[in-house]
Amino acid sequence: MTDQNGTIESHPLQHGEEVEVYPPSDEFRAQANVRDSSVYWQAAQDPEAYWAERARQLKWSKPFTEILDWSNPPFAKWFADGELNVAANCLDRHVAAGLGDRVAIHFEGEPGDTRTLSYAELTHEVKRAANMLTSLGVSAGDRVAIYMPMIPEAVIAMLAVARLGAAHSVVFGGFSAESLRARIDDAQAELVITADGGYRKGRVSALKPTVDDALALDTGTPLSVERVLVVQRGGNEVVMQEGRDLWWHEEITAFDGQHEAKGFPSENPLFILYTSGTTGKPKGILHTSGGYLTQVSATHSDVFDLKPETDVYWCTADIGWITGHSYVVYGPLANGATQVIYEGTPETPDWGRWWSIIQKYGVSIFYTAPTAIRACMKVGRQVPEQYDLSSIRVLGSVGEPINPEAWRWYHEVIGGGKAPIVDTWWQTETGAIMIAPLPGLTGLKPGSAQVPQPGITATIVDEQGERVGHGQGGLLVVQRPWPSMVRTVWGDDQRFIDTYWAKFGDQYFAGDGARFDDDGDIWLLGRVDDVLNVSGHRLSTAEIESALVEHHAVAESAVVGAHDDTTGQAVVAFVILKSQQTLLAPEQAEVELKQHVAAHIGAIARPRRVLVVSELPKTRSGKIMRRLLKDVAEGKEVGDTTTLADTKVMSTIQDQLRAG
Ligand code: PRX
Repeated sequence: MTDQNGTIESHPLQHGEEVEVYPPSDEFRAQANVRDSSVYWQAAQDPEAYWAERARQLKWSKPFTEILDWSNPPFAKWFADGELNVAANCLDRHVAAGLGDRVAIHFEGEPGDTRTLSYAELTHEVKRAANMLTSLGVSAGDRVAIYMPMIPEAVIAMLAVARLGAAHSVVFGGFSAESLRARIDDAQAELVITADGGYRKGRVSALKPTVDDALALDTGTPLSVERVLVVQRGGNEVVMQEGRDLWWHEEITAFDGQHEAKGFPSENPLFILYTSGTTGKPKGILHTSGGYLTQVSATHSDVFDLKPETDVYWCTADIGWITGHSYVVYGPLANGATQVIYEGTPETPDWGRWWSIIQKYGVSIFYTAPTAIRACMKVGRQVPEQYDLSSIRVLGSVGEPINPEAWRWYHEVIGGGKAPIVDTWWQTETGAIMIAPLPGLTGLKPGSAQVPQPGITATIVDEQGERVGHGQGGLLVVQRPWPSMVRTVWGDDQRFIDTYWAKFGDQYFAGDGARFDDDGDIWLLGRVDDVLNVSGHRLSTAEIESALVEHHAVAESAVVGAHDDTTGQAVVAFVILKSQQTLLAPEQAEVELKQHVAAHIGAIARPRRVLVVSELPKTRSGKIMRRLLKDVAEGKEVGDTTTLADTKVMSTIQDQLRAG
């Protein structure tokens, strides 16, 4: 088997299975940012020296002399006595280096409107916004909630908050009023930055009205928000509350672009980003400044082989997720990259939209999620084949394991059979890429994230925390602290310890299963806890279950992630209705409860199916056996039922579902 750029070798994977390997082409290797494999062992010999060297590529207003402080595990401090301004590293630094005219952002709105912002223009806008936020009372140590569509002001708002040494909490625009309010309450945000609405699938999705609903909720926590700043985007009707709500475009006119960026300590909080865990309450993942910026910029350069002078980079993630933070905002801008930001969905007005954007801007590095690739595969290669995608030289994948079939399609149809694909494993908690090929060095294996980055010691262990051998599976851990690691769960140090460190003591437990193949490459196998991954987005079974039981008609619920060919997993809920209730007929239950979950959490959590049952399978100690429900939801033969308190429950459920 060969491709355009050389031989694809076959390698034994495990148990005699063969997997093809795509070595880097000679041309790619010769120009790669990282082309000497000695970087791995050099970094391994002294990881702290390696990261210090990478950190020194940033601009520090006060250089650090300490590298890692791990005297109080698991609370790490990186470069703690250094000071820097994160926003100035992403902006002013490049302008000062004479790069002010370089395009920072090619913005493409879903309706087709466009805007180009050079580094000088973006810097100017962020300075003005920083002055505006200062006038609204924002200063170092504060929290600002951001609930925005994918428009330049979202990036400007994040950088303006960072410039002032305050922390942002970006909430994905698809989350409900209730989810937004829970995040505002937890972080005690004083300001919300939003937009009237944003374009999605040809319509305006209302954001400001959701903010109004969120702030009007009676949550039992006194409202921390004093002001709401509203960007005009959707043109939808909104109500502005006197004394609280302000239009961004009106306020900003009073401020010029003079703003001196002050240095803040390396461990100053940069942002809180909420993510689903195994309980009903999302965790506020706290990231800080110097270590985070070091690792996102280093990995963005190494893994994507970024050439800031010539590349046009595009990551399709929304800023509401960690990928948007690290690989739309901070990594690319710290590296002086030119990037595309697109507001809308890939199918608007048709499935050619992404490919037309790649053609229009000459995108050379493209980073997206397997779920999107599978959706495009379903539509068919005839769509991308109508566009000139020859500018593409590196492809990336993130969010879930990429199945080899989707990998090969991505490689051939989007990458022209030559662009390397970097499958990047990481998490909200890790802040930056941890396991991924380096495209100038690694022979690529479809479906595997393969190797820890230089300076990262990720491995696979058994239940006792002992490293497993090649060809064996276990749990993924990170053994040494890394610069962009989560610092704590906001306001809950104990939860931070319990979730990530209680299992193995000094090793970070990621919550993912993984295996080494016979060559020692890492294959990710999915979550081992009650976290679902739908379209590369994390959802918690417990959070959806508690939303369901909040419905007046629901007595009990159990949620599982069933395999889905496009989205990876899909939410399937089993519910028992209250026996006395008369408000919800079982035949209406599915529609109403799907809607109920979407309204409580957000549309991403809407179950694909809601199945009404009379009993749930439980162990003798009362624990719901989700594994069995997952089998049913996937239409598989139901596994071992011997530990059930009532072994007949599963056949009852199956009979009910067949009858229904
Ligand atoms: O299960 C892993 C999966 O996504 C989880 C992290 O989700 P989140 O914090 O939302 O961040 C997603 C974007 C970084 C992980 O625990 N995951 C992420 N990337 C991969 C992956 N699974 C397999 N391969 C990947 N490349």
